[in-house]
Amino acid sequence: MLAKIIEPYVGRTGGLISALRAVQAEVGYLPEETEAVAGDLFNITRAEVKGVISFYHDFTREPKGETVVRLCAAEACQAAGGRQFVSEVEKQYALKMGETSASKDITLEPVYCLGLCSCAPAAMVGGRLVGMASAAKVEKAIERVKRERVS
Ligand code: FES
Repeated sequence: MLAKIIEPYVGRTGGLISALRAVQAEVGYLPEETEAVAGDLFNITRAEVKGVISFYHDFTREPKGETVVRLCAAEACQAAGGRQFVSEVEKQYALKMGETSASKDITLEPVYCLGLCSCAPAAMVGGRLVGMASAAKVEKAIERVKRERVS
């Protein structure tokens, strides 16, 4: 299955990263065998594939929750009450940063600047930016993402 996803990207400029993104989009994460399969197809070592995977924070080795909630932990957001905001969201979902809920519906993870510093604190919920974020705004954004997934 992985080979089928990866093969179309072999020989293309930036093909490895595109292939890894395709695997993650299809499977939800990069399974252990990704290194071997991609290494064989691109004719590079597993270590090289592993290096690319570990360099980019968007690649994940484990399945994440249905909705990924990224909370900015960089300076501008911290200066605008980001620590308190993160703490409120963690408490609201009984999760710490980096954790996924037991029901696998939400993953909380830190991000270091979303380019939304002027609207700090900032978050990204299911790929959508949330400025001047609060725990209540994050909750609404999660509900919106869930509704859109259903429809
Ligand atoms: S520091 Fe948080 S969006 Fe830039």
